[in-house]
Parts: sequence; C-alpha cells; structure tokens
Amino acid sequence: MQSLNSIAVFGLGKLGSCIAATLAAREFNITGVDIDAEKVRRVNAGEPPVEEPLLAETIRKGRGRLRATTDVREAQDTDASFYIPPSPSLLDGSFSSEFLLRAMQPMARAIRATGKTGHLFVVNSTTTPGAMRNVILPTLEHETGWTCGREFGLCYNPEFIALGNVIRGLLEPDMVLIGESDAASGERLADLYRRYNTNRPHMARMSLTSAELTKISVNSYITMKISFTNQLRLIAGSFPDANIHDILAAIGSDSRIGSKFLRSGLSYGGPCFPRDNRLVAYTARQRGLEAPLAEATDRLNESTKDSLVEQVLSLTSPGDTVVILGMAYRPDTYIVEESAGLFLAQHLKQRGCRLLVHDYQAKPDNSPSLIEFENLDSPDALLQHSKISVVVICCPWPQYSRTLLPPDAKLIDPWGIRRFCSPAG
Ligand SMILES: NC(=O)c1ccc[n+]([C@@H]2O[C@H](COP(=O)([O-])OP(=O)(O)OC[C@H]3O[C@@H](n4cnc5c(N)ncnc54)[C@H](O)[C@@H]3O)[C@@H](O)[C@H]2O)c1
Repeated sequence: MQSLNSIAVFGLGKLGSCIAATLAAREFNITGVDIDAEKVRRVNAGEPPVEEPLLAETIRKGRGRLRATTDVREAQDTDASFYIPPSPSLLDGSFSSEFLLRAMQPMARAIRATGKTGHLFVVNSTTTPGAMRNVILPTLEHETGWTCGREFGLCYNPEFIALGNVIRGLLEPDMVLIGESDAASGERLADLYRRYNTNRPHMARMSLTSAELTKISVNSYITMKISFTNQLRLIAGSFPDANIHDILAAIGSDSRIGSKFLRSGLSYGGPCFPRDNRLVAYTARQRGLEAPLAEATDRLNESTKDSLVEQVLSLTSPGDTVVILGMAYRPDTYIVEESAGLFLAQHLKQRGCRLLVHDYQAKPDNSPSLIEFENLDSPDALLQHSKISVVVICCPWPQYSRTLLPPDAKLIDPWGIRRFCSPAG
C-alpha cells in the first residue's frame, strides 16, 4: 500500500485550516490551497486564518511542514488532496457541489498533466447523498480521463466537530467516517488516520453513499434529541411543580438513552445541525419517501424560537429594555448563524423592544449581524443600565452563572445555569 504523506488541503476556512494545521502538527507535509489570498498570506506568516481555540499553537507546531498557495499547480505532486470549501444549502434543502467542483476540477487536470497515477481525492465538505457517486466521481473521471479505483481513488470523509472545539474534535474523534470508492483507497485513508489521531477511534468504512447518509443522520439524530428536550421543557413548564432539569437528568441516566444533548436549553443552530437535518428530509423526498421525524424536529426547533419571543413579549411592554446574554450558537465560538440569541434579538427589535446584547466572542467585528444592536463590552455594564425588564440567557457561557443581574429584572434561564445561584446573585 502506498502511504499518504504529502497532502493538499483545499479551503483554509473554519474547518479546513484546522485540518491543515493538525495534519502538519502530526508530521504530514501540507500544501494549503485557497482562493482567498489573505488566508494564504496568514498561513504562510504562521498566523491563524480564522478564529479558533488552539489553532495558533497548532500552526506553530507544524511550521516548516505547512505552506499555502493560491496556485493549484503547487499542489499537484501531493499523494492526496482534501476538499473543504463551502457547500451552501440551496432553497430546496440540498447542498450545492459547485464550490467542490470548482476546487477539484483544476486539481484533477493538473494531476492528469503530470501523468502520475495513484492520487487519492478526499471530500470533507458535507454533500447531498448521491452527489459523490453521481456528480463528483464522474467529474473526476471526465477531467482526468482515468478510471476511479484504478488510476486514482475517491473517499468521502466528513468530520464531526463543533466550532470552538475543532482541534481536539479532529484529533480525538469517537469515529472516523470513510466512504470509499474501493477498498484500497479506504485503507490508505484509514492508515493516515491511524497515524494522525491521538486516540483510537472507530473506523467506520462503507460505500460513498452510505457515508453521505451517515454524516447527516448523526446530526439529524442529535437535533431530534434537542427538539425532544424542547418539547418536554414546554410541557413541563406548564405544570407549577415540574422541573425540566430533574426530568432530563433522570431520562439521560437511562443507558439506552444517554445524557449527551439531553439538557434543557433552546433551539439548535450553527452551520451544521439545522442544514444537515433538513438535508435528511430533502433526501427522503428525492427518493419518493417521507422523513416525518426530521421534519418534526425542524418544526419544533422553529416553534421553540417563536415561543421564546412570545414569552419575552408577555413579560414586557412596548419600548421596554431586554438584555440578551449569549449571541453565539454555542459557547467558545463567535458564530451566530441560526443562533437562538440572534433570532430573539431580531424579532424583539421588530416588535419595538430596546435590545442590549452581550457575548464573550461574538462581536459586531466578527459577526456583522450584531451591528444593529447595542453591544455590551462586559455583562458587568448591565448594572449601570436602569429599567431593564427582562434578561434572557440564550447561550450558556458558564461565566453567566456568576453575572450580577439588575435585581428588578425578570430572568429567563432555559439552560438552568443560574439555578444554584442565590436569588441576589
Ligand atoms: N464549520 C463547521 O462547523 C463544519 C462542520 C462540519 C462540516 N463542515 C463543512 O465544511 C465545509 C467548509 O465549512 P467551513 O465552515 O470551513 O467554511 P468556510 O467558509 O469557513 O471556509 C471555506 C474556505 O474555502 C475556500 N474556498 C472556496 N472555494 C475554493 C476553491 N475553489 N479552492 C480553494 N479554496 C476555496 C474559501 O475561501 C474559504 O476559505 C462546509 O461544506 C461545511 O458543510 C463545516
């Protein structure tokens, strides 16, 4: 077996830059390729091209083995190429392969021009099930004039990471998912991961389409669990003596269910969960089937956001000031895409409330959708504002458990992070 030692990484964004940096830190020789010249400059200067914990240290560790370029030809002599450009959702819920093809086609032609066979193409961006077999594979065969599984190989290898924890998530996953065009290609990638991971994850190897279905189904299952907690939180909240935290702790202690993602909170958001779950529903429709669980999960998520808006409005009068603590979709990241806090702020503003918002990382500089709100530098500034009607904790940054709140404000704490605080705290 020809082992993979030199790797090209196409797309040095939030996920790709971390893949490139961790591979270099684990002693692979990496050529990063991006169309964004500023990201390329930063990587070559040894600086992180995106904000992510541990990325700067990891880039420093791999320095000397990590270089970046905008020129595909500088990557043509690598053993394998990983592709992590955007795969945006289209209106029907499917994911576009356009950015993947734009990155892969020139590389396929460049490799063809060298005449060197044995290259392994690895897609990490999420794809619509069927796209690997029906779109990517035939495109590569067309561009190279070669046969997949003979002169080159193809794998689908999505990562299960959460922004804010990407480096650890990459190096120590529960599972490495490998969809393979042929057994030899899958074995080469599995061998790379045995040298790359710092733990011993389960290697889940399967066909290209099985892996595409697995990727979105993992996220769809997790979102189903989250929507279950939200359904139960609203039901429990209608009883004066029911406590959602007690209920979920008990349910999660049943080993058939498990406690992960079974915590009281709010709607799920971010760049993956909502899109991946909707892609399950799209995929079923494409096959003439229905996916009522995925659709109900999505509907519940939307109604969870609406209920929160209505709950706040029921506690305020027009013109009242509402504070939202936590605008990111989860702690440890600045991303506000589909976050509960952003949805609430936008809808309350439309309904005439005055908004004060705070987040430890999401700021107008890195998240322009926050520009329209009054952003607090620190939650301590709250005590300087008079007449705050309601404080809502939307993202459970642990620091909010100790934040001093205006004594007269009503508190909405769906995560229960302040439930052990004294009333004065
Ligand atoms: N961010 C996440 O949490 C996450 C998690 C799992 C999977 N993913 C998947 O990873 C993919 C990338 O996500 P991201 O958040 O890193 O996106 P991103 O927008 O942060 O980064 C994408 C990068 O690709 C570059 N790019 C675009 N076209 C290119 C081309 N032709 N050649 C080379 N580079 C090109 C862009 O300039 C950008 O730097 C998506 O498909 C997403 O579904 C993301």
